[in-house]
Amino acid sequence: MRVLERLGLSALRCLDPEQAHWFALRALDAGLAGGAGPVTAPRLETEIAGIALPNPVGIAAGFDKNAVAVGAALRTGVGFTEIGAVTPRPQAGNPRPRLFRLTEDRAAINRFGFNNDGMERILANLTARPFDGVVGVNLGANKETEDKAEDYIAVLRRFHGHVRFATINVSSPNTERLRDLQGRAALSALLGRVVGIRDGLSGSKPRLPVFLKIAPDLDDAEIVDIAEVAMAQGIDAIVATNTTLARAGLRSAAGTEAGGLSGAPLFQRSTAVLSRLYALTGGSVPLIGVGGIATAEEAYAKIRAGASAVQLYTAMIYDGVSLGGRIAEGLDALLARDGYACVADAVGADHRDGEPGEPDET
Ligand code: FNR
Repeated sequence: MRVLERLGLSALRCLDPEQAHWFALRALDAGLAGGAGPVTAPRLETEIAGIALPNPVGIAAGFDKNAVAVGAALRTGVGFTEIGAVTPRPQAGNPRPRLFRLTEDRAAINRFGFNNDGMERILANLTARPFDGVVGVNLGANKETEDKAEDYIAVLRRFHGHVRFATINVSSPNTERLRDLQGRAALSALLGRVVGIRDGLSGSKPRLPVFLKIAPDLDDAEIVDIAEVAMAQGIDAIVATNTTLARAGLRSAAGTEAGGLSGAPLFQRSTAVLSRLYALTGGSVPLIGVGGIATAEEAYAKIRAGASAVQLYTAMIYDGVSLGGRIAEGLDALLARDGYACVADAVGADHRDGEPGEPDET
């Protein structure tokens, strides 16, 4: 970690977490975090849903909701980033405080409730300055919108041609009834509509891959339903997972706050959901692994469980914005150690016998 970044992190720790995040984004945009671009190495080059990535480590949705620091985020070393969640109309979100540090648990709880500047302003932010790299948009729905699909479609239409992928987020725990859209019938109808609209968006613009982001708090039957529906509706990738409502084993005082829990305590559950999805889809739907990644080893574990790419957010609160790049560098070394020529060769390795790094049977 750079000296400036380390000093900045200690200063930010004295602030309210939401204020600290605001300052961190401003500092990033002002170039204080430095960074020259994505970490590159032949082994790290990969693709997801036809999108070429310099490396498979991305910044997760929620970090830069309003697209105020996209170019700078892409210079921190990561291979891609996701802005949003973006809703059609600006939205204030829930009352503050609504973001909590759980330092002893290397975790966070948030109940933001899709606070954002709305799609017009955010698109203006995104296009105001040139950026170099892969950016996706996380699609959200306004709180008062009855038919959530209408909002996802409105944002998708608005960002079409400006981003490289769009993620349908039916998994935020902070918008009432949003997670109900993960049920088989509702999900099938929703994805059918969104994918249909995407397919109809014509012109010279390339096809926009549509991803689906799911919650970790699903039982096995629900995961099976989601895998089947995603395959049937031609979803381009599944992002597993969003934050959890579970609270087991936390030590921090803020552990009782309402909202979605992210960071280290989410790692195991989100990886289990990812692994199950890989087994169910036979690798036919690319997966993005998110939840509790703070080290290259954890990113590698997600890839071996079935992720073609990974994302992170909470660990950057503790370890700085250059963490994604450092993880990409570490991942390159782990792939080399185990004799993989490229990331794609390691995807799902834990599901196959006799792969490098497999524990011995004896
Ligand atoms: C999030 N996350 C999130 N996800 C999403 O799909 N849309 C969003 O708007 C947000 N907003 C958001 C805000 C904050 C403060 C946090 C901490 C998280 C979830 C995020 O993208 C990711 O899925 C989880 O945080 C799990 O990854 P980490 O944080 O454990 O690496």
